[in-house]
Amino acid sequence: MNVLIIGEGGREHALAWKVRQSREYTNLFCIPGNAGIAEIAICRPDIKLYETAKLIDFIKRQQNIELTIVGPDNPLADGIVDALRSGGCRVLGPTKNAAMIESSKVFAKQLMKKYGIPTADFEVFESFEEACSYVEKQSFPLVVKADGLARGKGVIICESADEAKGALKKMMVDKAFGNSGNRVVIEKFLKGKEATLICFTDGKAIIPMASCQDHKRAFDGDQGPNTGGMGAFSPSMSFTDEMLKEAEEKILQPVIDAMQEEGRPFSGILYCGLIITDEGLKVLEFNARFGDPEAQVILPRLKSNFLKICNAIVDGTLEGRKIEWDDSVAVCVMLTSKGYPGSFETGFPIEIGDVDPDVLLFHSGTSKNAYGELVTAGGRVIGVTALAPTIAEAREKAYKNAEKIKFEGKQYRKDIGLNL
Ligand code: GLY
Repeated sequence: MNVLIIGEGGREHALAWKVRQSREYTNLFCIPGNAGIAEIAICRPDIKLYETAKLIDFIKRQQNIELTIVGPDNPLADGIVDALRSGGCRVLGPTKNAAMIESSKVFAKQLMKKYGIPTADFEVFESFEEACSYVEKQSFPLVVKADGLARGKGVIICESADEAKGALKKMMVDKAFGNSGNRVVIEKFLKGKEATLICFTDGKAIIPMASCQDHKRAFDGDQGPNTGGMGAFSPSMSFTDEMLKEAEEKILQPVIDAMQEEGRPFSGILYCGLIITDEGLKVLEFNARFGDPEAQVILPRLKSNFLKICNAIVDGTLEGRKIEWDDSVAVCVMLTSKGYPGSFETGFPIEIGDVDPDVLLFHSGTSKNAYGELVTAGGRVIGVTALAPTIAEAREKAYKNAEKIKFEGKQYRKDIGLNL
């Protein structure tokens, strides 16, 4: 089976690496890919996702690709799955209408309210003035969220009315996230430990993956601005088997049923960001895809045949399938460019060094320069994933190897997997 992965980050590198462990795959392609993915797949950055007819021609006629896996949020929100399916391609991922569970926070919150799925109380605003007068009457902290996609930066926790008004101005008036800030959700701040549960779903059945947790803030001790994720670990130490049952019964299955009921069946990978409160689990967010770097700690722990699971999702035959996980703990430390998540320079040569052979390096922002050298090409550069029997050992191994990789301006958090 020829397989295509769409995307260019560490998540897509991890997906490509996992696909290659399935006996069923023959040729593996990636659009656009990166320098790390190019070592294990044929990357075609020349094919543009918006040139739908050329993309379909490449998939169907030129390469006989039987399965396309879409990694990132933007093409899903833009409807790439609908476009490829109407061209006769077999695609893993939600349609545009179903991907709204991520691409519109207003849609996701209203869906949860309608179907009684536990989440923080909220209000929706389209007017900056009305939102400002609302926050003046609230107690703090509270959370201001841009409705649309904002590269992980559209959620701001505010400690005062002035901070909330600043966040609202940034989103609604200054348009820091473009049209994504035309509407906002203002919600109650929930206290508790966070955990992420991602599931496979064919639109009817759900199979939860191993739990995990990412570290979103840029600096140690959860300080600094939000990023796409500075590291992750799996399993989440706070997430018990009872919580898994609660999540399946009260959140995951109900939301998949709700999407079906709404005429937007969700098939693909559903990411559920959870908070463990005194009143039970509540949903912080849904994403319509694997998390990144979460995929870099989950996929290495998956023992079952990944392509068979993907095929069952696309064929609608997931029900009753058993999926096995490795007992090891996985820790991923993300190496980033100096300045990330703000502005940063790229093009610095990367020296990989003598990394242990059982440590996984998933490239996020890398490319080859004119001399064929591996260079930095993004804010997040390489994720270093180590597996070990305990989190302490996995951390030690990930950090020992993270130190061996060298490039100018390399930055990383030193506390991934701590303060659980
Ligand atoms: N690491 C968070 C995300 O992928 O959305």
